[in-house]
Amino acid sequence: MSKPAQRIAISGAAGQIAYSLLFRIANGDLLGKDQPVILQLLDLPQAQAAVKGVVMELEDCAFGLLQDIIITDDPKIAFKDADFVLLVGARPRSKGMERKDLLSANAEIFTVQGRALNEVASRNVKILVVGNPANTNAYIAMKSAPDLPQKNFTSMMRLDHNRALSQLAAQSGQSITDIEKIIVWGNHSPTMYPDFRFATVNGASLTQMINDETWNREVFMPTVAKRGTAVIEARGLSSAASAANAAIDHMRDWVLGSNGRWVTMGVPSNGAYGIPKELLYGFPVTTANGEYTLVSDLEIDAFSRERMDLALQELLEEQNGVKHLLG
Ligand code: NAD
Ligand code: LMR
Repeated sequence: MSKPAQRIAISGAAGQIAYSLLFRIANGDLLGKDQPVILQLLDLPQAQAAVKGVVMELEDCAFGLLQDIIITDDPKIAFKDADFVLLVGARPRSKGMERKDLLSANAEIFTVQGRALNEVASRNVKILVVGNPANTNAYIAMKSAPDLPQKNFTSMMRLDHNRALSQLAAQSGQSITDIEKIIVWGNHSPTMYPDFRFATVNGASLTQMINDETWNREVFMPTVAKRGTAVIEARGLSSAASAANAAIDHMRDWVLGSNGRWVTMGVPSNGAYGIPKELLYGFPVTTANGEYTLVSDLEIDAFSRERMDLALQELLEEQNGVKHLLG
């Protein structure tokens, strides 16, 4: 007998990230090949026709796991009883903008959607915010949903984590699957701090294999931090397939477990590493049984402290900029 279907709500369903994401979810890449799903698709009124086109394509794939599809422009319908919510819908940046420039355009969306989640979503809902600036948007949604556990709100740092992994594999000549224990601390913005001080390859230290602090600071860190800009410059559009892939990785690991591997998630701080409570910040976590656990007590040297504080300052400024929305 098949399992009961899980309800997955996705905002921005007519957008370019959703165009990769929906098909992979319906194919079982997020919750597993034995888990039926119901997709609850949210987009603006003017995007409803485009969503219907995407739904026609979903139907034409004849996915065995896809039990039902709901299309709506009302967050309370989209989030009703949702077990998983991917908040993708928001304006993307274009050339010359930083992600924080989107704050005023996008912040209000997350107040409204946070309130709707508070009212109608499953009490165990797992929420991932992808829309930029993702960490602060997730903070807004969380603060707008006081009846839901704060730990259910996360933001996407996994694309940065995957970007870092790929760069490290290329530089060291090691296989991506053998590299463990990397972190991207902080904000999904140029202040992020990709950190491989603890990384291992089959148990051996990756820093000893690379052993080039100039490459770390002058090539690796800026390449990872500015990768979103590089993609926009090359493609004329912000990353989409890789963002959808990171969203799947984030959710899948959260639900099905990371098997002891460290992954980076934006999660509300518990006060560890000098990051104020509640702030959504990129931390190393492991995941098991549907819960994430912070990797704690890592040594923070002076350079790392400086970099982590830079991201913190930026997040505090972003938070300050949306205070008026949170009452
Ligand atoms: P897009 O413009 O192609 O699609 C966005 C969709 O959201 C559109 O269909 C739009 O109608 C919809 N939308 C806008 N406001 C909405 C609302 N209030 N409710 C529901 N839907 C709404 O953009 P995209 O390329 O899919 O990117 C979406 C967001 O994801 C952007 O903010 C982008 O910057 C962000 N992003 C984040 C990461 C990350 O790593 N965190 C990576 C890539 C992109
Ligand atoms: C990315 O990192 O690719 C996305 O956040 C899009 C952007 O604006 O950079």
